[in-house]
Amino acid sequence: MSSDARAVDSAERASAPQPLSGRRVCLGVTGSISAYKSVEAARRLEDAGAIVDVAMTPSAARFIPPLTYRSLVKGEVAADLWDPAAPAEQHVAMGRRADAMLVAPASATTIAKLAQGIGDNPVTLTALASSAPLVVAPAMDAVMFAQPSVQANLELLKARGAFIAGPAIGRLASGGQGLGRLLEPIELAAAVRSAIGRSVGDLRSRHIIVTAGGTREPIDPVRFVGNHSSGKMGVAVAEAARDQGAAVTLITTQPPPQGRYGIVVREVQTALEMQAEIQQAARGAHALVMAAAVADYRPAEAAESKLKKQDADQDGMTLELIENPDVVASIDAPKLLKVGFAAETDDLIANAQSKIAKKGLAFIVANDVSQSDAGFQVDTNRVVILDADGGIERLPLLHKYDVGAAILDRLRRLPSWA
Ligand code: PMT
Repeated sequence: MSSDARAVDSAERASAPQPLSGRRVCLGVTGSISAYKSVEAARRLEDAGAIVDVAMTPSAARFIPPLTYRSLVKGEVAADLWDPAAPAEQHVAMGRRADAMLVAPASATTIAKLAQGIGDNPVTLTALASSAPLVVAPAMDAVMFAQPSVQANLELLKARGAFIAGPAIGRLASGGQGLGRLLEPIELAAAVRSAIGRSVGDLRSRHIIVTAGGTREPIDPVRFVGNHSSGKMGVAVAEAARDQGAAVTLITTQPPPQGRYGIVVREVQTALEMQAEIQQAARGAHALVMAAAVADYRPAEAAESKLKKQDADQDGMTLELIENPDVVASIDAPKLLKVGFAAETDDLIANAQSKIAKKGLAFIVANDVSQSDAGFQVDTNRVVILDADGGIERLPLLHKYDVGAAILDRLRRLPSWA
């Protein structure tokens, strides 16, 4: 079996993360061509472990037949207030049992009704019957979205605690480009996870900084000294922290991840840039989880223009490297709890243990990066958590999201966390 095939096999063995397990989400769909995205959003929410109920306005049912949702979701579909076959007071039951309500797409009309407390269809009535966090994902023409009336209604909803998700800038059904496009399903599902975290998560009112990816230390404008880190481990920790309600700053060398709703992303390239960003974010933050693979050395000088073959002498080319600071150790924030990772290929425990005190860590997460199903680039990891006082916890092969959740759980149990 190839190493790629082995990695796929392990990803299947480590069961897929279920961040919304045990949650019930009500998806409200209103009349917009972008309603097709809500079908995919429903699937994503259920893939994440939720049971989805669907409420539809009469115009939504003209774009997508209720049968589509009935065939897809585990919950109920309310599309007609006067349907004699529907359970009595269905909207009240759906609103009460929801852990979150997502209205996507949310038309200008529905936004106005939500702001004014009007209940005249399954979506607006269910919203009125619910005290769960409300996520509103507007979708409309850019001129409509910019109307002071629409903006005022959104402000009103925000002031009452609703989460406004989007819209995005992009191609609009009404023609041309503009601000009014419904967010992608992955972002809609992320917004629901964030809203539930902010309302009941264990990390509410905490700020967690997470680093991800391998630093890129420039040799010249087109080359760098780098490593194989994809950023997946750090992103997984950031998502798990967001889902538990933390304010999250993700400092990454990789492009901003999809599904980042609720995560503040700062892009950097080098160890020095990462150090500066962390130091800036550290004021008032509670923890730093350092999943990034930071280069210990960088080229002494980055050439201003591309190095040419003829720049080498006859013995080849020598690159002078100088030491980078130890970023995690250097961050000056007395109350910040620091969690490190150790990427090792041999003597995993001893090598990781030696870094705890040197770097001022609360604990370290050691991973053997020579395994094909752990460490760099794959979706799974097999880690050992080592405490400053010598405690050792070995975790089985897990999806990186579940490794992230275990790290956050460990953080919460530290006496200094309280
Ligand atoms: O991104 P992925 O593809 O998902 O891969 C995940 C990972 C393998 C990169 C991740 O799980 C991991 O192990 N990250 C730490 C990699 C690393 O740099 O290990 P280290 O043993 O060299 O460093 C120990 C700790 O010190 C790390 O937390 C590191 O971020 C930090 N460090 C290292 C050097 C330096 N100059 N400054 C630092 O802060």
